[in-house]
Amino acid sequence: MSETYKRVLLKLSGEALAGNEGFGINLPTIESIAADVEEASNLGVQLGIVIGGGNIFRGVAASTKGMDRSSSDYMGMLATCINALALQDAFEKRGLQTRVQSAIEMAEIAEPYIRRKAIRHLDKGRIVIFAAGTGNPYFTTDTAAALRAMEINADVILKATKVDGIYDKDPMIHEDAIKYDSIKYIEVLNKGLQVMDSTAISLCMDNKLPIITFNLNEKGNVARAIKKESIGTIVS
Ligand code: GTP
Repeated sequence: MSETYKRVLLKLSGEALAGNEGFGINLPTIESIAADVEEASNLGVQLGIVIGGGNIFRGVAASTKGMDRSSSDYMGMLATCINALALQDAFEKRGLQTRVQSAIEMAEIAEPYIRRKAIRHLDKGRIVIFAAGTGNPYFTTDTAAALRAMEINADVILKATKVDGIYDKDPMIHEDAIKYDSIKYIEVLNKGLQVMDSTAISLCMDNKLPIITFNLNEKGNVARAIKKESIGTIVS
C-alpha cells in the first residue's frame, strides 16, 4: 500500500473556492488550494482536475426557480470556466505547468477538450484542468469528473468536500452519525448518501473506478490521499 497513485482526477466543488464568503472566488482560499495541489504534484502524480461552478452560478437551483434548465446549466458551465482560469492563475504563480481544456469551445480562452492531448499534457507533468463540465446540460460536474477520470484512465477520483468522509446520516445534524471508512457503490446508491449524484456513482460503479471523499479544508489531505493514507471514505 506504500506506492502512490500514478494518475488521479481531483474533483473540486466551486464552493471550495469561495472560502467563508460562500460566493465568488476568495484569493487566499484558492492560494491555499494551490499550495495543496503543489504538494501533491511534487509526489510525481499526474493530476487532472474537474472544477464545479456553484460558487458563481448553480444551474439546478436556478431551474427550480423557473429558469429553463438547459440555459441555466449552460450558465453553470460558463461559471466553471471562470473558476478554471482562476485555478490556472494560482497554480502558475507557484510555477506549476497547467493547461485548461474546455468542453465548450472558446478557443481564445482555453484549449478545446481533446482526450489524447490531455493525456499528453499529463504525461509531460502538466496539470490539466477540465472546464465546462461535460459540455451538456443535465449533467453535473461530478458526472464530468467520472467521465474525464475514465477517459484519462485515472486510478481514482479524489472528491474534495467540506466533511471528512461519508456518514450514515448528516454529521452536522446528528451527533451519533457514523463515518464509513469504505463503502460499496451500491450502498451509496441504495441509501441515497450524498457523495456524488447517482449518474456519477453509476458510471464509476460500472467501470470500477474508486472514489475517495475527504476534507479539503485539512491541509495536506490531497497529498495524503495520493499516498494512499487512509483518510476520508473510499467508495469501491
Ligand atoms: P506540446 O507542444 O504538445 O508539449 O503542448 P503545449 O501545450 O505546450 O503546446 P501548444 O502549442 O499546443 O500550446 C501552447 C500554449 O497555447 C499552451 O499554453 C496551450 O494551453 C495554449 N493553447 C493551445 N491550444 C489552444 C487553444 O485552442 N486555445 C487557447 N486559448 N490556448 C491554446
